[in-house]
Amino acid sequence: MKFFIDTANLNEIREAQDLGVLDGVTTNPSLMAKEGIKGKDNIFAHYKAICDIVDGDVSAEVISTDFHGIVREGEELVEIDPKIVVKVPMIKDGVKAIKYFTDKGIKTNCTLVFSAGQAILAAKAGATYVSPFLGRIDDVGGDGLDLIEQLVVIYNNYGFETEILAASIRHVPHLIQCAEIGADVVTCPLNVITGLLKHPLTDVGLEKFLADAKKL
Ligand code: E4P
Repeated sequence: MKFFIDTANLNEIREAQDLGVLDGVTTNPSLMAKEGIKGKDNIFAHYKAICDIVDGDVSAEVISTDFHGIVREGEELVEIDPKIVVKVPMIKDGVKAIKYFTDKGIKTNCTLVFSAGQAILAAKAGATYVSPFLGRIDDVGGDGLDLIEQLVVIYNNYGFETEILAASIRHVPHLIQCAEIGADVVTCPLNVITGLLKHPLTDVGLEKFLADAKKL
């Protein structure tokens, strides 16, 4: 299972990278805006800074919604660094653009996926990653994990190579359940990754070991 961090914050990305368990980064326009990044040059420089920190794939999202705009933006984004994966929304022109990028050998991440039908289309178009947003499904009273389970079955049935990138992860149990189901990748905030470290018995046990070590 790959761990991606879902942020555009360079300090958080560095911290996850330093832990030695990071496989990539996902960003989106909301995460970039949260960092106060404005203007094309600054946005591109920020993506480059992220790529310089991590060893794996870095998803950079297009904001065009028409085929030619998505293709133009995607082709510019991949010039920034070979680690860039073009993140494309699950819309009709997005699917066409994913197929175009696939044929050109450009990696893609199909985002804003909320149904099995959408995920089938993304896989048929050859997306490198498909991003089902499980937290947002939970937010509206659905069960995001059911969708991840469905996708694992469907992709296995046909040997689709598209990797299931569970997105919109809100807490540690989400991540653990994605691992049980067999999602290929999880992208989550830093606190979810570091949350994996925590167990009260570890703290109590360590305290006792350190106390006893003083008797040695
Ligand atoms: C990642 O690719 C998605 O953009 C992200 O996980 C969405 O998460 P959110 O629902 O917390 O905004």
